[in-house]
Amino acid sequence: MRENQRHTSRVSVLGLGRMGAPIARTLLAQGHHVTVWNRTPERAEPLVRDGARVAGTVAEAVSDGELVLVTLLDHEAARDTLARAGERLRDRVVVNLTTSTPQQARELAGQVAGHGAQYLDGAMLGLPETVGTTEAFFLYSGDAEAFARHHAVLELLAPAHHLGTDPGLAEFEDLALLGGGYATLAGFVHSAALLASVGRRASEFVPLLSRWLTGLLAFLPELAREIDAGAYADGASTVAMNRTAVAGLVEVSRAQGVPPGPHAALLDLLTRREAEGHGGDSFASVVEPLRRPGPPVG
Ligand SMILES: NC(=O)c1ccc[n+]([C@@H]2O[C@H](COP(=O)([O-])OP(=O)(O)OC[C@H]3O[C@@H](n4cnc5c(N)ncnc54)[C@H](OP(=O)(O)O)[C@@H]3O)[C@@H](O)[C@H]2O)c1
Repeated sequence: MRENQRHTSRVSVLGLGRMGAPIARTLLAQGHHVTVWNRTPERAEPLVRDGARVAGTVAEAVSDGELVLVTLLDHEAARDTLARAGERLRDRVVVNLTTSTPQQARELAGQVAGHGAQYLDGAMLGLPETVGTTEAFFLYSGDAEAFARHHAVLELLAPAHHLGTDPGLAEFEDLALLGGGYATLAGFVHSAALLASVGRRASEFVPLLSRWLTGLLAFLPELAREIDAGAYADGASTVAMNRTAVAGLVEVSRAQGVPPGPHAALLDLLTRREAEGHGGDSFASVVEPLRRPGPPVG
């Protein structure tokens, strides 16, 4: 934080679970006035020792903070908890860090705006132990002025990125990031099962997979440029070549008694693109049928 931005904020933290507690602790360590509320009040006790004030009710907590951080289990908990603050929300900035769907984020934005508060939706990409470090990053969307005003405080929790004024955007981006990660994990467990079928241990395989994935990461910007331009003619790695490779992976998996899982869906896409005359296009062109869904290729 730059020296001229240093000032003390009044922050209320609703929810002191695995993420909420380190969030409150990080803000206390930086000298901010922190009021905490938790459904189970005993969970606030360690934070009192760190200097937090405990509010007996949600309304009291919201009254204390210009910035209200909500870190609850799910959308329903966040919605119902904020509903209990009612008119005390007026002139507050509510930052909802609870994992939600984009539509739930938009609904909550409307709910708090109805009480005169500004709304930011947040998605926390990180684990509890990475809160307050640059290992995590948090995504935000919603009121841009509120984000600018509280940017310095939000940046203490994790590098903070504002994606746009639609409150649902942070949740979309969160889902897309999770999707990329889960697809990698699904591929990893499939590979581990395939190698186990020939007596190889997953831990022996990880160093080579790491090298391979590092190369793939370097390839992503090129694929992204092709997808954004919708132009696939100059790709280094074609649909036809990849269809052959993935077909082999599916065939060998089945022969080894390992369900081909995530790769069967990719093979469908590649087969469809080739059948439609795009075998010479770049791999990235398999995004096209996803953008314009049609019947599966049989
Ligand atoms: N943990 C992670 O690694 C991680 C990472 C990124 C994002 N997230 C997201 O962060 C959010 C919080 O996760 P967490 O790991 O901190 O969860 P957690 O440890 O299970 O804590 C849940 C919190 O929500 C409160 N709560 C649950 N139901 C409630 C209700 N009906 N009314 C009021 N309060 C309620 C709990 O209060 P009590 O103490 O009374 O039970 C507790 O404060 C979730 O949306 C999660 O998806 C978590």
